[in-house]
Amino acid sequence: MKSLIDILDLTTAEIDELISKANDIIDHPDRYAEKCRGKKLATLFFEPSTRTRLSFEAAMYELGGHVIGFSEASSSSTSKGESVQDTVRAVSCYADIIAMRHPKEGAPKVASMKASVPIINAGDGGHNHPTQTLTDLLTIQREKGRLNDLRIGFCGDLQFGRTVHSLISALSRYHNIHFTLISPAELKLPDYIKVDVLQKKKLDFEETAKLDQALPNLDILYMTRVQKERFFNEADYIRLKDSYILTPEKLKNAKSDLCIMHPLPRVNEISCAVDDDPRACYFHQVLNGKFIRMALILKLLEID
Ligand code: NCD
Repeated sequence: MKSLIDILDLTTAEIDELISKANDIIDHPDRYAEKCRGKKLATLFFEPSTRTRLSFEAAMYELGGHVIGFSEASSSSTSKGESVQDTVRAVSCYADIIAMRHPKEGAPKVASMKASVPIINAGDGGHNHPTQTLTDLLTIQREKGRLNDLRIGFCGDLQFGRTVHSLISALSRYHNIHFTLISPAELKLPDYIKVDVLQKKKLDFEETAKLDQALPNLDILYMTRVQKERFFNEADYIRLKDSYILTPEKLKNAKSDLCIMHPLPRVNEISCAVDDDPRACYFHQVLNGKFIRMALILKLLEID
């Protein structure tokens, strides 16, 4: 029984297989409509979510399975003081697979040590978000036709943005990726990614606070929101929240085949006027998320 806690739990060959499977599901959804008949997915969301939880649920329904779960900690026995370990042991008695989001870093890992069914980390604090990364990789593959030879800029809250941390770890295994890390000084990428991944592997990266200067060289721009819920001090959030706002004006200097990504939710960092630009890929990303989660559920349940 395998869980997915960190994107590096999957080899690049396994990621390639998931991408191929997701593309096959996109082309032939009818072939997959009954694959999970009789199976149950539990979604245990101890933290707010729209896309991730609903895309897991839609994924399981489209595979013919069922979904149980909760969408906030206050409606679960956590509010009575139950530990994560006990919650997942109980839920393992009802479900075949569990998708779990938790505000504490490492909680899904701890859960996976106690559960008797596969656990999927659907986001743990400011740490990791492997299924968003699979979504992002499928999007990059579909939009750019490759996962190698790319110049990618990450812009916004690189300190707390877990989707950024997971995607950098994943891309660190591909060839000829140049990383441009665009953030205010206070929201730079944490050392456990910068030192332990980028520097250790001698990858090509630069840090800057200036989106305008970085933009013309990029193949992919990955925008993120400032993660309000991870700040200790509201004044800091207010000062930093509008550090970057992407507008059609700014995009005049970007490549004509730039791919603009965002894990969403967006707050203010991409103007709605950008949505009609053919380079805006963030709503394709949402749709891709459902298909790659279908592929992942099949893999972890060992259903061909
Ligand atoms: C992200 C998350 O929850 O980390 N959203 C998502 O899962 N699509 C990004 C965010 O909340 O900013």
